[in-house]
Amino acid sequence: MRVIQVKDYQEMSDVAADFLAGQIFHKPHSVLGLATGGTPEGTYKSFIQKARHKELPLSELTTFNLDEYEGLSPEHPNSYHMYMNEHLFQPLELSSTQTYLPKGDAENVEKEARRYEQMIQDHGGIDLQLLGIGENGHIGFNEPGTSFTSRTHVEHLKPTTREANARYFEKKEDVPERAITMGIATIMDSRSIILLASGDRKKQAVKKLVEEVRKEEFPASSLKIHPYVTIIADEAALSAV
Ligand code: GLP
Repeated sequence: MRVIQVKDYQEMSDVAADFLAGQIFHKPHSVLGLATGGTPEGTYKSFIQKARHKELPLSELTTFNLDEYEGLSPEHPNSYHMYMNEHLFQPLELSSTQTYLPKGDAENVEKEARRYEQMIQDHGGIDLQLLGIGENGHIGFNEPGTSFTSRTHVEHLKPTTREANARYFEKKEDVPERAITMGIATIMDSRSIILLASGDRKKQAVKKLVEEVRKEEFPASSLKIHPYVTIIADEAALSAV
């Protein structure tokens, strides 16, 4: 794993946006894996500016998001569909035929997880996967203990994860208990991976990721044997390393 230390959130966002722009510049028909949460918001903002400024070709691009909450329709204000529309897809006018997320409101979510996994394979896999990291080391919504051989599946969220994400919901109880997420093996199949971490809140997770051994109790540690992982972390996130 290569670590790029940056000063702060803004620099992390700009560096990550450069990676995305570079990927598309070199391969306009790239398949990008995208993440949600507070961390990549700045990356998307910076990427939108770069894409417009450099007139990046976006018509052949395909994107697959990591995850979606169970039970939330694409129109639900807290759905990851809504997040992506707001922060990236609408500003860049990316169409719904090139941007995919699992359908959280599918009648049969297990079947939807299998369909989503198959769709990723049918598109030839992911070229560049963007990741954040949960305080407990989760990537996507793969919680501690998830098998490193897992494919897209339905995951029960830990109470601490639901609490960490409660800030986006009106009430803590509104945070869904389950989500559809790409599995660890799905993520590991990506040809390259960027993991972003910013702020004090992530320093213990980043320390574990960098210093500890690969184990299923700490999902992000799966990345340790991937040949092309770049961690872009700011000084605060790296302050315990
Ligand atoms: C959620 C998402 C993850 C994200 C994590 C951290 O659980 N499913 O993909 O990395 O939150 O979020 P934040 O960036 O807001 O700290």
